[in-house]
Amino acid sequence: MTIQYRTGNDLDLDQVIELYRASTLGERRPIHDRPRFSAMLRNANLVITAWDQNLLVGISRSLTDFSHFTYLADLAVRVSHQKRGIGKELIRLTQLGGGPNTTILLLAAPAAEEYYPGLDLARHGRRGCSTGASLCDNAYFSPWAVRTTPSTKVGPSVSP
Ligand SMILES: CC(C)(COP(=O)(O)OP(=O)(O)OC[C@H]1O[C@@H](n2cnc3c(N)ncnc32)[C@H](O)[C@@H]1OP(=O)(O)O)[C@@H](O)C(=O)NCCC(=O)NCCS
Repeated sequence: MTIQYRTGNDLDLDQVIELYRASTLGERRPIHDRPRFSAMLRNANLVITAWDQNLLVGISRSLTDFSHFTYLADLAVRVSHQKRGIGKELIRLTQLGGGPNTTILLLAAPAAEEYYPGLDLARHGRRGCSTGASLCDNAYFSPWAVRTTPSTKVGPSVSP
């Protein structure tokens, strides 16, 4: 199976909603509120999608300044296509798209808590967190943040 990756948020809304359902992420995102979901897609400035021919099978939806930080808001792969490296590749392309020195920040969903440590994303934990413990418990940074902040083991503080 050859998977193709594309950058851009000019996507068919129904196709994206169907992908969110098919990946289970739709259970935790406002896919029933079309104007809101449409705005989420339209205003995201770094969207990478994965395609199995004409079938949308994965998405990485981020907000980035293309310089310092990329917030990876949604990562989703269709259940039928999971555990084939698509999620990993979407994260790699998100890192490339934001810029090589950009730190990726994400908040892991409960089902993916064991996923990100396996990809070398560093868990932030409560240390140095100024936004509340429950948020920081699920926060992960790309390794770049760890390498450039030797004073802590896990990366910089999250600003509210
Ligand atoms: C999390 C998700 C995006 C992973 O996508 P994926 O394409 O299946 O991931 P990959 O195939 O790139 O997996 C890379 C590695 O992580 C492992 N892995 C995948 N999902 C995992 C999980 N939920 N828990 C633990 N490890 C996992 C894979 O086995 C693989 O290991 P390997 O490199 O040793 O073979 C996908 O499972 C998904 O869409 N889940 C539902 C939505 C969700 O929870 N998104 C995250 C929101 S923060």
